[in-house]
Amino acid sequence: MRKQPRNIFFLAILLTTLAFLTACGTTDNAPQAPPQPNANSAEENGEETNQPPEPETQPAENTPQMNEEEIQAAIQVSWNNSPHAAAYVLDEANQNNSCARCHSPINWQPTLDDLPESCFSCKFELEEPDPLIAENDWQNIPCMVCHEVGRKDKVDPAFKWLEIAELEEYTQVETSTELCQKCHPTETFTAHGGIQDLGVHQDMTCTDCHDAHTTQASCMDAGCHENVLNTGIPGHTDEHLNVACVACHDAGGMALGFREEDGLFTTQEVIPTEEGENTFFFSSHHLKLDSACDDCHFTGNPWSITDNIGQ
Ligand code: HEC
Ligand code: HEC
Ligand code: HEC
Ligand code: HEC
Ligand code: HEC
Ligand code: HEC
Repeated sequence: MRKQPRNIFFLAILLTTLAFLTACGTTDNAPQAPPQPNANSAEENGEETNQPPEPETQPAENTPQMNEEEIQAAIQVSWNNSPHAAAYVLDEANQNNSCARCHSPINWQPTLDDLPESCFSCKFELEEPDPLIAENDWQNIPCMVCHEVGRKDKVDPAFKWLEIAELEEYTQVETSTELCQKCHPTETFTAHGGIQDLGVHQDMTCTDCHDAHTTQASCMDAGCHENVLNTGIPGHTDEHLNVACVACHDAGGMALGFREEDGLFTTQEVIPTEEGENTFFFSSHHLKLDSACDDCHFTGNPWSITDNIGQ
């Protein structure tokens, strides 16, 4: 823990900031969410609550015979193996406090620059935070970032957003999408992909596809498109087993390329920088139902894919 006097200034500033932000309504571009004390997966996926349970196809975390502690323990294991449990990063200058805002919110210390301009007139003395947080102190994205944690580490299943870690102050979020987007940018920046427009999936939330704790998602295993291959649909052929679904169904005009690690032909973000372009693989989320063969099979394409497909 850090020195007391510093913390008091820090909290005073945070509170002033919060009051200011709330007054201006600029905390979030989404409308204020009404309180949702019982938000859970059943409510979020409204329709599915009316269907009979199917124990075999439900994730282990949800099997009816598990009690609350067992569910929490299973979720803990899922989380332990997720990217949210291993989010330590450094920038080019070997610093990371600014990164901690999303990569380890409990460690994050805002700088003067993070505060709204009006606050400079308050003339607070705010020490510059340590720019470097050591790996040993890094807390990643534990349960309490998304849930209130009570005594004996009991995790409230309703999800919320830990707005001010220092005060353990939470704000309600209406959907899992609103929660995920506290950190998952809607616009691209540096080597970060943006997820803005879900195209044909626009009525879905992030956790309709992603497990909130492993973070995994799959077009085929989510019970949605498992029978879509080799059904006579053009493009759904063995020749395209190394082509990602999103490479053909992208509606956002993303770049395409072969990813060396697994030979998959998939989508890429391209971000202009001062030194040129920063290109990295990122799954398109902006999808459409149709797809055009000549998006890839055109004469002189940069990936040396055949232009002769007999069409
Ligand atoms: C990044 C945010 C996030 C983190 C971190 C997180 N959860 Fe969750 N959790 C959620 C969301 C979102 C849901 C709702 C899932 C849904 O609607 O499918 C949820 C649901 C739950 C539920 C109710 C689901 C059920 O099957 O009953 C429990 C219990 C839970 N989380 C426990 C935990 C525990 C324990 C941890 C830490 C090991 C944790 N969560 C970490 C976001 C998170
Ligand atoms: C507190 C910020 C935060 C929240 C909230 C959050 N994430 Fe993340 N998420 C991250 C960070 C940071 C990483 C990258 C971790 C790393 O590898 O360094 C990540 C990684 C991921 C990845 C893997 C990305 C990859 O490149 O493979 C997925 C998928 C993911 N999150 C989904 C979700 C979903 C779904 C939710 C909402 C339930 C969510 N996240 C909520 C910060 C967050
Ligand atoms: C606005 C929230 C946010 C901030 C700030 C942020 N990140 Fe991230 N970062 C994420 C999320 C979410 C992911 C995972 C999904 C993705 O790639 O966009 C991620 C992924 C990464 C990855 C890829 C992780 C992996 O294992 O492949 C690196 C590297 C990374 N961030 C570095 C940084 C650095 C360095 C900083 C600080 C200069 C930083 N990030 C600041 C949200 C953020
Ligand atoms: C229609 C289903 C679906 C929805 C909705 C969805 N995702 Fe995804 N997402 C996927 C699939 C499938 C992948 C690819 C997973 C893989 O390759 O293992 C993915 C990949 C990702 C990745 C990793 C990208 C990469 O290539 O590095 C991140 C981060 C992510 N999703 C975050 C989110 C967030 C945040 C939301 C909500 C705004 C969201 N997703 C909504 C299906 C979905
Ligand atoms: C090589 C390109 C290609 C790949 C890879 C591909 N698709 Fe398609 N997909 C198409 C084409 C072309 C259509 C037909 C579009 C139309 O009818 O206009 C289609 C149609 C569909 C449809 C609509 C099916 C229907 O019954 O109308 C779905 C759903 C779909 N694809 C999902 C997927 C999923 C999931 C994957 C990954 C497993 C995938 N696609 C991979 C090209 C592709
Ligand atoms: C997103 C890019 C993409 C789209 C769209 C696409 N393909 Fe392909 N196609 C590929 C790739 C990649 C290969 C494998 C080529 C390789 O590995 O060199 C391939 C291979 C093929 C092959 C085998 C060619 C050979 O010589 O072995 C045929 C035939 C084919 N595609 C037909 C189609 C048809 C028909 C459509 C439209 C329904 C289509 N493709 C849409 C990327 C695409």
